[in-house]
Amino acid sequence: MESHFDSHVEQHNEDEFQKSFKEMISTLPKGNSWGLPDHLYQYQDFWFTSPFLQGVLLAQQQFEAQPTDIILSSAPRTGTAWLKSLTFATITRTSYDDSTTPLLFRMPHDVVPFMELDHAHFSANRHLGIPLLATHAPYSFLPTSIIDSGCKIIYICRDPKDTFVSMYHICTRYAKSQNTQPIELDEAFELFCEGVSWYGPYWDHVLGYWKASLEHPDKFMFLKYEEMNEDTVLYLKKLAEFMGCPFSTEEQQKGVPEKIIKMCSFENLSNLEVNKSGIHREGQGNLEIQNKIYFRKGKVGDWKNYLTPKMATQLDQITQQKLSSSGLSLN
Ligand code: A3P
Repeated sequence: MESHFDSHVEQHNEDEFQKSFKEMISTLPKGNSWGLPDHLYQYQDFWFTSPFLQGVLLAQQQFEAQPTDIILSSAPRTGTAWLKSLTFATITRTSYDDSTTPLLFRMPHDVVPFMELDHAHFSANRHLGIPLLATHAPYSFLPTSIIDSGCKIIYICRDPKDTFVSMYHICTRYAKSQNTQPIELDEAFELFCEGVSWYGPYWDHVLGYWKASLEHPDKFMFLKYEEMNEDTVLYLKKLAEFMGCPFSTEEQQKGVPEKIIKMCSFENLSNLEVNKSGIHREGQGNLEIQNKIYFRKGKVGDWKNYLTPKMATQLDQITQQKLSSSGLSLN
C-alpha cells in the first residue's frame, strides 16, 4: 500500500519535473498556434503543445507497460475515436451489448484513456480486462517499457489531405467555441505542409510507425482509415484476431461484428446525446472541448470540397517525396 512518505516523494518528483519542464520548454522553437490558445513547440523534430509534450515526457519516465497492454497510436484526426470505439466494443463484447455498452453514454475518448494525460489512471481499466491505452506520441517518443514489454501496437493513419482538412476544421470550430480568431485555410495549409501541426510533421509520424511495423510485424497492426471504411467487417475481424479475442463462428453467424460496426458508425455515435451535448475534459482549462467538435463528417475524400487542385497536388507531391522508397502509400 502506498505510504504517506511515498506519495510525498512522488509529489516532490512531480514538482521537480514540472520545474525542469518549464525551463526546458522556454528554450524550444515556438510555432504558430493555428488560432488556438496554446502554441506549438518543436522538440526532437516534432511539434507539440505544452500539456501534450509534458504528458509524453512524463509517460516516458513513469509508464510501465505490461505485455498484455494494447496501445492505440495515431496522429490527430486520422480516425482515433473510431478505432477506440471499435476496439473497446470488441474487447468488452462479453460484458456489454449494443444496448448496454458505455459507448452509449461516454464518448470514445472517455472510454479509452490517453497516455499523455491519463496513464496514471490506466491500471483500473487493466484490472477490468480492458488493456487499451491510446496515444498520439510519435514512435520514437514511446516509453521504452512499451517497446521492451513487446505489447501490441495498433496504428491508424489517413490520407494527408483528409487529415489536414479535418485538423483545420477542429481548430476553427474550437476557436469559434472559445471566441478566438480562427486560422485561415491557406495559412493552416502552409503550416501543415511545413510540418508545423499537432504531433507533426504528419508524414514523419506515419513513417516512424510504418518502419517499426515492418521490423516487428507480429507486434503491429497498421491500418488506414480509407481501407477500414471500405471493408469494415474484414478489418474488425482482423483487429479482433490481433487483439487475441477473435469472433467465434457462432458470433459471426449471429452478426456480432456487424452489430459492433453499426454501434461504432459515425452516424450512430455522432447522433448520441453524449456526443451532441457532452464536454470532454470538463474543467481542465484549454483541454476542455465540446464532444460534438470531434465528430464532423467521417467521410473519405472530403478534401475535394476544401482544397484547390493546386493544393491537392502540392500535398500529394510532399507525400510522394516523403514516402518514396518506404513501400507505403497514403492516397
Ligand atoms: P472528419 O473531420 O473528416 O469528419 P480523430 O478521432 O483521430 O480525431 O479523427 C477524427 C476524424 O474521424 C474526423 O474526420 C471525424 O469526423 C471522424 N470520425 C469520428 N468518429 C468516427 C466514426 N465513428 N467513424 C468514422 N469516422 C469517424
